[in-house]
Amino acid sequence: MSITTGDFRSKVTANTLLEKKQKHEPITCLTAYDFASARLLDEAGIDLILVGDSLGMVMLGYENTLPVTVEEMLHHTRAVRRGVKRAFLVADMPFASYHVSSEEALRNAARFIKDGAEAVKIEGGEKRAPLVERLVDAEIPVVGHIGLTPQSLHAMGGYKVQGKSLKAVEQLVHDGLALERCGACCVVLEGIPREVAALITHEIEIPTIGIGAGPDCDGQILVYHDLLGLTLAPPAKFVRRYADLGSTINSAVQAFKTDVKAGDYPSDAESYHLPKETLSTLQAIAERKRAMQV
Ligand code: KIV
Repeated sequence: MSITTGDFRSKVTANTLLEKKQKHEPITCLTAYDFASARLLDEAGIDLILVGDSLGMVMLGYENTLPVTVEEMLHHTRAVRRGVKRAFLVADMPFASYHVSSEEALRNAARFIKDGAEAVKIEGGEKRAPLVERLVDAEIPVVGHIGLTPQSLHAMGGYKVQGKSLKAVEQLVHDGLALERCGACCVVLEGIPREVAALITHEIEIPTIGIGAGPDCDGQILVYHDLLGLTLAPPAKFVRRYADLGSTINSAVQAFKTDVKAGDYPSDAESYHLPKETLSTLQAIAERKRAMQV
């Protein structure tokens, strides 16, 4: 079965993303956490695939991203790697994997690259600048992430839209500029007013990828499960559900259950059969056994 609708002319790299910004071509990004979904997104021509630490919630059932470990992220990164040929593959570094020391951060980041990521994403702006510089110096491309940074859940006092005061707007612009100066290849803007995202996008030369940051970013990203209607919680304001796969899956499972209970599944056509000769021999043996019993 062919489901190829994407653009397969060339591998997407950090340079491709920069060129897209320069040409005002929107950058398409989605998260993926396993081989099957990664292959679908890649074949559909999505530019950037992120193995997000949101997998903690949507794949592993954690309450937030904080418990996610490096080992869990690497496990999913390897699976996604096997499904991606064209897209730029980014992996999230989970909470506490880059906070303790730059040595530990470098060692952890290198593991992601060895397992197939083409860049790592870390949360935080200006205060991460020295670390970003260190990673880039070690040939590890870095994606920044500012605004509503879910790993700062407790520090922020909940998931709240950021950058509402003049001071906060100024800090966000500084954050964007600092990430650019230190060599980040692009920056995710999450949960900020569209006007602030537009300002940052205008001020910095590297691409901005928005999530809950309005339409003026250079690209947009959504969580796979949100896009497809696979999440249980009510979606955030910025989520547009492009499918209701949750209901589709539920109907399919109910239909399977009904068929099995009614003895309608599997049918004869869905069963394997013995070769004719073997079957007649088997029937003859059964016949003989029956005759001896009489
Ligand atoms: O973990 C994640 O999914 C993210 C987003 C930017 C969607 O960081």
